This record gives sequence, structure tokens and C-alpha cells, in this order.
Amino acid sequence: MINVAIDGPAGAGKSTIARTAAQALGYIYVDTGALYRAVGVYSLRRGFDTKNADTVAGTLSDICVELKFIGGVQHVFLNGEDVSEEIRTPEASMAASDVSAVPAVRQFLFDLQRNIAKQNDCIMDGRDIGTVVLPQAEVKIFLTASPEARAMRRYRELQAKGAADTFEEVLADLKQRDYNDSHRAVAPLKPAEDSILVDTTELNLEESVKKVIAVIQERITD
Ligand code: DC
Repeated sequence: MINVAIDGPAGAGKSTIARTAAQALGYIYVDTGALYRAVGVYSLRRGFDTKNADTVAGTLSDICVELKFIGGVQHVFLNGEDVSEEIRTPEASMAASDVSAVPAVRQFLFDLQRNIAKQNDCIMDGRDIGTVVLPQAEVKIFLTASPEARAMRRYRELQAKGAADTFEEVLADLKQRDYNDSHRAVAPLKPAEDSILVDTTELNLEESVKKVIAVIQERITD
């Protein structure tokens, strides 16, 4: 199986770029952030403090998270319910960032991610795919862009959905999540030593996809 790991900060365009590249190459696309978001949504629904590691870890025995690929599109299920829409709110983003710092949560989601990669040619995106989940991946890409460019993309996405968040709020949220994701003790966001850096600040979507596909093809035909 060919495994491609794409890591990077929030809003670098990972999911859109990885999904499009996966389609072009005939691989499945696995968005691992959705798993952390589903765990976060569970805590939010129950009214738990997502920053309390003990509380969050204590919920795991009540949770079943599954990924299903319906018509090639990933859906995430929380205790049998499709929560693919609900996990996309700004509250769910922050809750996901909180719960992803809990070691028991990372452990809980580890096998699920590994098993998908074992059984499929895939592009898997996240924060620790090249460093922790798939250290043997054939290709590792670290995809990034400036905070302002990333916040502007998120802001436009939210606006298109009719959300009222201002650009300043989106930028502040994103910087907070960058800080959380790269300073946590377990599996912090950082490039794998053998990853290839792709900076999309100055690239549009089409150019970014082209670049990522070129990097993958170059590596797998070596
Ligand atoms: O990629 P995303 O925005 O959907 O990720 C949501 C949160 O989950 C993000 O703040 C960091 C965390 N995450 C992680 O810690 N490890 C991953 N492999 C994927 C996401």
C-alpha cells in the first residue's frame, strides 16, 4: 500500500488539497482531524469541560468513533450517528484542539488510523501522521502557509456558510490553535525530519494541488 502523510497547521488547505490529490491519484483521503472533532463534539454535547483531561479521558469508554467512506467521501460516525456536519463548527474546532492534547484520546484513535492505512492506498492528513501514526509512510509532506493567509481562507469558508465570525476572531482562534497544537506534550505539530515542506501562502488551490501531486509522484517513482 502507498501511504502519504500530510501534516501542517489549521487552515493550510490540507483537507482540500489532500482530497483533490487523492482523487487524482485514485487513493482514499483520510481526514484524521474529523476523529478528534468527533471526540470533542461528544464532550460538548454532554456539557463537559473539554480542557479537563481526566474528564475527557473518562468519556472514551462511552464513545465509538468510526470512519466510513460513502461514494468515496469520508463520513465520521459518533456512536452510530453521522456527525460529519456538526464537527465543522468553530466550537467543535476548539474542542478538538483541547481533546487532542489528551494522551488517552490520541491512543484511542491510533489503531483506527493505522488500520485504514494498512488496508488502503491513502493520503492521510493531520498533525502527527508523518511523525507518529505512519512513520513509515512512503511520502511525508508538511503543508503550511502564513497565519494571515490561513485565517483569510477559513474566514471566507465561514462567511460562505453564513457564519458571523470576524476576520480578527478567526485569526485569533487560529493562532490559539497553532499554539495549542504545537506546544502540547504529546505528538506536537512539527515537521517529520524526512518531510518535504510545501508552503501555499503564494499558491492558489490548483497550484497547491499540482505541487503536492508532483512531490508524491517524484517520491513514489524513485
Ligand atoms: O485538521 P482539523 O482542524 O480538523 O483538526 C482538529 C484538531 O484536531 C486540531 O486542533 C488538532 C487536532 N488533530 C491532531 O491533534 N492530530 C491529528 N492527526 C489531526 C488533528
